[in-house]
Amino acid sequence: MKTPKTPKTPKSKKLKKPKALKAGKPPKAKAPPTIKPAHVPASLLDQLVQEATAVRERAYAPYSGYLVGAAIATKQGSIFVGCNVENSTFGATICAERGAIMQMVAFGETEPIACAVVTKDGGSPCGICRQVLAEFARDMPIVLVGLASPEGESGHVVQLAELLPMAFRLKS
Ligand code: THU
Repeated sequence: MKTPKTPKTPKSKKLKKPKALKAGKPPKAKAPPTIKPAHVPASLLDQLVQEATAVRERAYAPYSGYLVGAAIATKQGSIFVGCNVENSTFGATICAERGAIMQMVAFGETEPIACAVVTKDGGSPCGICRQVLAEFARDMPIVLVGLASPEGESGHVVQLAELLPMAFRLKS
């Protein structure tokens, strides 16, 4: 009877040492803006609510049916809007607030001073959106409007610093 051959153990390949990273100056990182909360007139907040209400109509939310519109005013006097855009892989969904922030940065601005979020029930920004807003503003008023809630379009104002105390910041 033949005795089965013992399988050869493969010669272990020597792992190459990873090349040392070239020493040199690290790439310059763009410093995050440090903005002090500005005084925001009530008329501007009203305008933000109007813009957020309008853009909410364009929300793409076939899965949740929950439409969200957001509008952000900047120190330079611009208004950027966003609506939620859902995806069949749910995790790829983008919230309205983040949509507005992406617009702001794409248009070369980084100083938001106020925000409005319009939903049917006055929902407040999710955790990720709070952190994304906090990247650009230490604090700012956020008007939360629930179109079907008793206060209607007047909504109520909360502060970003109140929604997200101790926001994460990279220490340089
Ligand atoms: N949504 C927003 O657009 N903003 C938020 O801050 C919370 C949630 C959207 C995401 C999703 O399309 C729907 O609302 C339900 O979660």
